[in-house]
Amino acid sequence: MTVRVVTIDGPAGSGKSTTAKAVAKRMNVPHVESGALYRALTLAALDAGVEFRGQRLVALARSLPVRLDLTPRGFRPEVAGVDVSREIREERVNARVSELSAIPEVRDWVNEVVREAVEGYPRGAVLDGRDMGTVVFPDAALKVFLTARPEERARRRLLQDGHETSDAEIARATEDLARRDEADSTRAVAPLVAAKDAVVLDTSDMTFEEQVAHIAALARNVFQ
Ligand code: DC
Repeated sequence: MTVRVVTIDGPAGSGKSTTAKAVAKRMNVPHVESGALYRALTLAALDAGVEFRGQRLVALARSLPVRLDLTPRGFRPEVAGVDVSREIREERVNARVSELSAIPEVRDWVNEVVREAVEGYPRGAVLDGRDMGTVVFPDAALKVFLTARPEERARRRLLQDGHETSDAEIARATEDLARRDEADSTRAVAPLVAAKDAVVLDTSDMTFEEQVAHIAALARNVFQ
C-alpha cells in the first residue's frame, strides 16, 4: 500500500533537511528528520558515559526517553524532556554519530520511532535521512534522492554552521564529508543508496528556491 509520505534521502550536506523542512511547511504537514534521532541518542550516550553497544543504547533511549516532539510547525529533538536542538549539532556529536548509526539495534529503534511518529499524522509527513525511502518507507508515495558535488556540499555546510568558506576550509570540510559518506555508504546495514524508484536530483547548480519548488510540485499529489 502506498503511504502518504515523501522521503528525501541523500548524503551529508546535500540540503535534505532544509529542503524537507521547507517542503513540509508548504504542504502543511510535519517534517521528521531521522538524523536528529541518531544525533540525540549520540548526545545522550556521550553525556551519560554509556558505551556504544546496541542493547545498552536502546535501553538508554527508551528510559530517558530520547524522542522527537512533532508538530506541523516543526520537530523538536528531546532528551528527558529537554530540547537539544542546538547540542545535537556540536562537533563531539558529528565525530561519533556515524559509528552509532551503524549499529543495527539503534537503527531498529530509530525506524520504530519514525514510523510511530508518522502514524499520528494521517495526512502524511515529509521525512529525511539516508534510508527513509529504501528501508523505512519502501512504499512511500514519493521518494527523492538529493545529491550535490562534494565541494558544494562542504561549502553549504560551512555556511549553514556560520564558519568561514576559504579554499582551505572548504578543502578540509570536503575531506570530512567524504569520510562520512564513505562510512555511511559502505556500512553493512542500510547503506546510503538511492531507492530504485527515487527521483534523483543533483542540486549543485540549483538555488534553494528552485529545489524546493521542484519537489513541492512533485509532492502536491501526495498531500491532496
Ligand atoms: O543527516 P545528518 O548529518 O544529521 O545525519 C547524522 C548521521 O546519522 C549520519 O552519519 C548518518 C546517520 N543517519 C543514518 O544513518 N540514517 C538516517 N536515516 C539518518 C541519519
